[in-house]
Amino acid sequence: MRVIIVENAAQVANAAAEHIAQVVRSCAAADRAAVLGVATGSSPIGTYNALAEIARAEQLDLSEVRAFALDEYVGLDREHPESYHAVIHRTVTEPLGLNPAHVHVPDGLAADLYEACQSYETAITNAGGVDLQLLGIGANGHIGFNEPTSSLASRTRPKTLAPQTRVDNARFFDSLDQVPVHCVTQGIGTILDARKALLVAQGESKAEAVAAMIEGPLSSMCPASALQLHPDATVIIDREAAAMLTLRDYYEHIELHQPHGSK
Ligand code: GLP
Repeated sequence: MRVIIVENAAQVANAAAEHIAQVVRSCAAADRAAVLGVATGSSPIGTYNALAEIARAEQLDLSEVRAFALDEYVGLDREHPESYHAVIHRTVTEPLGLNPAHVHVPDGLAADLYEACQSYETAITNAGGVDLQLLGIGANGHIGFNEPTSSLASRTRPKTLAPQTRVDNARFFDSLDQVPVHCVTQGIGTILDARKALLVAQGESKAEAVAAMIEGPLSSMCPASALQLHPDATVIIDREAAAMLTLRDYYEHIELHQPHGSK
């Protein structure tokens, strides 16, 4: 896992956006559209905005990019402002100028959620797999909505949200009882299938989860620790999110002395 520690949230956004832009450029050079895995939450918002800036400055065409969101609440109308359909449209599709027909979000309204989740997996496969999966991390170490003790081999499926996650996300709703109890989420196995994984985190509230993710142990108690199994995972964090890392100095040393040929 590559760990990049920067000064502040703005630098996290810029560095992450540059990573994504590189994937889009290299896919374009290979004459194909990039397939991006996109995340909701506050953590990646700056990254999307910085990527929109890069696209504007470089005239990087994102209209052919395919996108697959990680998760969705069960039972929220798509028009509900906090449905992840609506959030992804507002924070990703519009600012980046993606074609809405190319942006996919799991279906939390399907009569048969299990069947819908299976179709979502098939859609990702049919798109050729995800080139880069962007991730945030929950304070309890969740990625997507894979709560602690999720199977590290899990695929897209319905889940029950952890009470703490509902409390954390209640800020987006009028009250806690409006936060859905269930969700559908890509599994940890699904996320690990992406060719690259890129996780961003900012602020001291993420420091404990970040340390558990990077320095282990590998455990379903910290779902993000599964990224230790990924051959091309990058974590970009600010100083506050890095505060509880034991080997912080080493990660900074590595960035100054990259081994030859490393990514
Ligand atoms: C949400 C999302 C995750 C996100 C996480 C952290 O519940 N399902 O994909 O990474 O919680 O959110 P934030 O970035 O707002 O802290």
